[in-house]
Amino acid sequence: MEVLSITGGQHLFGTVRVTGAKNSVLKLMAAALLAQGTTTLTEVPDILDVEIMAELLRRLGCEVDHDGPARRVSITVPEILAHRADYDLVRRMRASICVLGPLLARCGAADVALPGGDNIGSRGLDMHIAGLRKLGAEVTNEHGYLIASTQQRLTGGSIWLDFPSVGATETILMAAVTANGVTVIENAAREPEIVDICQMLINMGASIDGAGTSTLTIEGVEQLEPVAHCTVSDRIVAGTWAVAATMTQGDVTVLNANPAHLESALDKLVSAGAQLSRVDGGFRVVMDNRPLAVDVVTLPYPGFPTDLQPQFIALNAIASGAALVTENLFEARFRFVQELARLGADVRTDGHHALVRGRAHLSGAPVEATDIRAGAGLVLAGLVADGTTTIYGVSHLDRGYADFVPALNGLGARIERIEAESLFT
Ligand code: UD1
Repeated sequence: MEVLSITGGQHLFGTVRVTGAKNSVLKLMAAALLAQGTTTLTEVPDILDVEIMAELLRRLGCEVDHDGPARRVSITVPEILAHRADYDLVRRMRASICVLGPLLARCGAADVALPGGDNIGSRGLDMHIAGLRKLGAEVTNEHGYLIASTQQRLTGGSIWLDFPSVGATETILMAAVTANGVTVIENAAREPEIVDICQMLINMGASIDGAGTSTLTIEGVEQLEPVAHCTVSDRIVAGTWAVAATMTQGDVTVLNANPAHLESALDKLVSAGAQLSRVDGGFRVVMDNRPLAVDVVTLPYPGFPTDLQPQFIALNAIASGAALVTENLFEARFRFVQELARLGADVRTDGHHALVRGRAHLSGAPVEATDIRAGAGLVLAGLVADGTTTIYGVSHLDRGYADFVPALNGLGARIERIEAESLFT
């Protein structure tokens, strides 16, 4: 078992480049199922989740060539696909559910293992199911699988989402692009990753209006063609670097990043005292002082992203003052504060609120990452803690952050990946 060992106290300086977004590329890979032939995706992050999705697509009958260092994936989709996504893969990555819509559209059937809850909350699928039913599919839950089927081509329909769910918007969108007639999704998610999928689908021949707004209008087409597509850059990774620069009182330029996708989070960093400027292809964060505490409320895009909430709790843990952090999306996301407390952080939670009282110092300790973003929050805390912080559960970080350790070292951090055993030799 590998762990990360961080010696805190270094200011981060330099330039870092972000690759494509995990939360986009997995859906783009699923969208490739909609067209027979070879789809090529570029700016693909070299992360574990891409490998899991590649394996899932292979089992459906696709040929997948994943070139990690070249940041490229080619997916060759056959005329006839299998339509079952097994539990052993789905349990490893909840995002596997995104094959549901494309498989139903292409095969008229999809059997996808129910992902269940995970470390950040229960995460329902009711809106995915209700949306597919509105398009004419039969959806049942049998023996741990979601079984969706339709005798004929899906038909367009009007769908109002109770909440602008990213996953439900994507499932319905990918099912509707080849349905018969017009589908309207109201209260749709507006995330940049949704816009990215819409752009790829439009290039494949889909007719979609309103990408990036709350109303998506989709006019079904008979058939889609494979394309080459460049993945939108990862705003959560870019935001993590921005918080790292602020917490370590450093000076970091983040390239291949779009600050417009991060406005709510970058605005908070300015309130914390950071200086932010745009540079060609990205932005620069400079920080000279201990950060000021900043309140945070997570909301669907363009609100403050839940995927940056743990990183901001880490920032507030060493800030001057106290902050109230409110989590509105995933009820279990505060679990990680118990680990942060091992470093000496003062965080009290009550329901979906966390009160963080900033401390002048954290002190290094062994901690466990329980999900991707909790892992990022712990790394950030370790960067500023006195002494050594050892992070267990590194596989969570591997799911979302490509080449994290070399990039951190390149900015002057002292972090290494070591075998846990060597701690005892
Ligand atoms: C995606 C992202 C995740 C991010 C989240 C919110 C991927 C792979 N993951 O997750 O990193 O944190 O968006 O920005 O892209 N819900 C229901 N019923 C449903 C669907 C959702 O109750 O049918 C609830 C969820 O439990 C959650 C909330 O809606 O409380 C938001 O979920 P959703 O936007 O769907 O997030 P994901 O697509 O799972």
